Amino acid sequence: MTQGWTRTVSVEELKTKGRTVYRQDGRQIALFDTKNGIYACNNRCPHEGYPLREGTLDENCLLTCNWHNWKFNLETGENQRDGDKLRTYPVEIRDGDIWVEIVDPSVEEQLAKSLDDLRQGFVDHDYERLAREIARIVRLGVDPIIAVKEAIRWSHDKMEFGWTHAYAGAADWLALYDEHAGEPENQLICLLESIGHMSGDTLREESYPYAEGAEDWDPEAFFQAVEGEDEARAICLTRGAIATGDAYGAMEHALARAALAHYADFGHSAIYVPKAGALIRRLGEDIAEPVLVSLVRGIVSAFREDLIPEFRAYGGALETFGTKPNGAAPAAADYAKLNANKAVQFTAEHGTAPALDLFRTLLAANATNMMAFDLSHLDDLDQPYGSDFGWLDLTHGLTFADAVLELCRKYPELWPAGLLQMACFSGRNIAHQDDNVDFEVWKVTDPDAFFADVAQTLFDHGHDEYIVSVHLVKTAQSVRNLLASQEAGHAGELALAALNRLLASPVRRKMVRRTARQAMRFVDTDI
Ligand code: FES
Repeated sequence: MTQGWTRTVSVEELKTKGRTVYRQDGRQIALFDTKNGIYACNNRCPHEGYPLREGTLDENCLLTCNWHNWKFNLETGENQRDGDKLRTYPVEIRDGDIWVEIVDPSVEEQLAKSLDDLRQGFVDHDYERLAREIARIVRLGVDPIIAVKEAIRWSHDKMEFGWTHAYAGAADWLALYDEHAGEPENQLICLLESIGHMSGDTLREESYPYAEGAEDWDPEAFFQAVEGEDEARAICLTRGAIATGDAYGAMEHALARAALAHYADFGHSAIYVPKAGALIRRLGEDIAEPVLVSLVRGIVSAFREDLIPEFRAYGGALETFGTKPNGAAPAAADYAKLNANKAVQFTAEHGTAPALDLFRTLLAANATNMMAFDLSHLDDLDQPYGSDFGWLDLTHGLTFADAVLELCRKYPELWPAGLLQMACFSGRNIAHQDDNVDFEVWKVTDPDAFFADVAQTLFDHGHDEYIVSVHLVKTAQSVRNLLASQEAGHAGELALAALNRLLASPVRRKMVRRTARQAMRFVDTDI
């Protein structure tokens, strides 16, 4: 493209028109004759591209784009709305003609500006601006993965309780990103959803700083620090692992052990551990610290559901797991009537069965719970607090199974905990099944074609809430992993059918009347 000083129109022409647009090489330069002199700027509003030539100019050379009221200082390009800056051009008058200087900034300068603007869009959770800046980075020919890394750095200390689904989802979106190389629009979607979710989850959050310092990596000390909810020490030990140069490799076993030490936090901790590994492998070791300190914070602060009555049999079941000579895995149907405490005891009694057989049984039980979810539950207004679960909760039975398979195959001593926690999921989700849901209706006969369709669905998912879209992405990726593992057997087909029905069903999240009713009943118990 032409660079340097360029002749545009004559002063006379501009004076006659008051404002005009000069076009060159696809570039549109708006020229304004003002009482302060002649100004040149990009004619395309940096918001949505409408022509600034149509804007309103006041006596202070403040140009208003009337489409959405963004206001720019014509002299500097500053945007009074904190949005993107307007590009302006130096102007000179030579022999009655108007010359403008077109000097495009270097790639480095443009990248720095895009990252600055991306950060502003991130702070404001301005989805469109995030999309624009990522697109600009792509257009520069720079690997846009840098934007994901920056987003993690900007957000990791703003997560008061550690990881959210935003980081776990980023690992899965990045997997899709890599699979769809050569498809720029789909790849942009993957990055936008990753970064947008991080931005949304940390919107208006203050910083919650991590403890400073480092301590030599010691997996047992780390485990005890997590158990004792000593975040500061766990963080210092994490930095010791980072200093080894292979942070996740050093920590994976201890992280898996800590994450599976309790049936905790809807299984999030264990679900997130392999995702941290995937993120670091994909983004590089230099992202290990923000990824891992926030993960560790999350595991430390996870609520330990195995200590509440609904799951209290878990600890005892873990102690007796595999002590009874009952070596055959039960059938998934045997779990259909077992609440969580009964399910863990029943599983422990069959603990001498091959771990993978038990895994398949429990995966099938969880997949069946999900596939046969009774949708009328979503319309039931009389649910008490604590039983508000819906599709998203059911998906954890599958995403957790995926994590258990990955972690426990590597560290087999964790199988009892992993399997018993799968039994917890099975038990907590029974009693909401619709017996009329037929596997044959939801069965997927061509998984490859199905997942190709799923990807297209995800690329235009249409859900306002990230928490919904991220569960769809995570569940789809987990089911793919389970099938690819070759270990799932028929349970994998059930998981596939469950995913199929999830994607075809409404995912209602906001229960306005139920919430009001629950609140009224709850305050009636105040004394
Ligand atoms: S297009 Fe100019 S403010 Fe929206």
